[in-house]
Amino acid sequence: MRSLCFGIGALSLALLASPAMAQEAQPEQLIDALNAVFGAHAKMRAAHTKGICVKGNFTPTAEAAALSKAPLFAAPVPLVGRFSLGGGNPAAPDNQKDNVRGIALHFQLPDGGVSDLVMVSAPIFVAKTPEQFLELLTIVAGKDKDKLDAFFKANPETTRQGAWLKARPTPASYATADYYGVHTFALINAKGDRQPIKWKAEPVGGFVGLSDQEAEGKGMDFYAAELNERFAKGPAEFNLYAVLGQPGDQDDDPTSEWPADRKSVKMGTISITGLENDAACDVAIFDPNALAGGIEASKNDKILPMRSLDYAVSFGRRTN
Ligand code: HEM
Repeated sequence: MRSLCFGIGALSLALLASPAMAQEAQPEQLIDALNAVFGAHAKMRAAHTKGICVKGNFTPTAEAAALSKAPLFAAPVPLVGRFSLGGGNPAAPDNQKDNVRGIALHFQLPDGGVSDLVMVSAPIFVAKTPEQFLELLTIVAGKDKDKLDAFFKANPETTRQGAWLKARPTPASYATADYYGVHTFALINAKGDRQPIKWKAEPVGGFVGLSDQEAEGKGMDFYAAELNERFAKGPAEFNLYAVLGQPGDQDDDPTSEWPADRKSVKMGTISITGLENDAACDVAIFDPNALAGGIEASKNDKILPMRSLDYAVSFGRRTN
């Protein structure tokens, strides 16, 4: 069975063609499908189950406020964050190359609210629509290799994320991976100017990876200890960039990147200073659509609004 960085899933070709699949995927169906692939684990997230809660702060650059009027781009703010591994396995191996690493951030705003940013270590997601993701998960859960191969053949964009991850080394640390917001957002400044962007965070010291042999030698559980040792010496820092879209760049397809020549503006430095109690991360969801005024989500992307609904279902089940 091919390893899938987010999920795994199953549905017969007959079902794929059935009228039922033409309907919109419901949030509960997606969480049930994730559970079918990874198991339902009481009190835990249905996805990105294995993770580490952290804290730190964000310091904006002088250029950031020209692009967005959001308060986090006006003055430094504290943050709570969570590093995680993709998928719903609470014992997911830290050394798996073709899994995404995640970073989720609550920027804590002066008015007591939050603005969230949720990114993974690949610039693309595995599915363009919730329906396509549901089909994929259902097929993987069914463990029928022929059906999965047929799905990948008919939906080649769902293979891009895995190929992207396999072509790069395994990140040596959560602190040495680069992270991407995947979807298109827009920044709005005080004059009302609107700029489509994609988020990208790069470790200040650059990407550091492990060879396949080194990754194997590290074993399945080394990220937590590595972070602990790192924080004893200093913070893990990332440069946060807004990659600037141009007219005609797609804003509806999280399986597809923009052309590589798009310019970036450095918006600030994310500084992760230490571990935080899990409760600070588990008390709510990191919601990619919880955004301060001055940041807006693309209205054309079908995956992005579904994420908030799915995360709420997962939250409801893990807090019951
Ligand atoms: C329809 C598509 C998706 C579904 C069904 C889904 C599902 C989930 C679920 C159920 C959770 C756990 C929520 C909770 O209990 O708090 C989660 C967390 C997460 N997802 Fe997604 N997701 C989707 C798309 C994406 C995309 C496109 C990204 C790329 C940025 C992403 C990145 C993350 C990260 C980083 C977390 C961890 C958040 C944390 O640490 O609490 N997801 N996802």
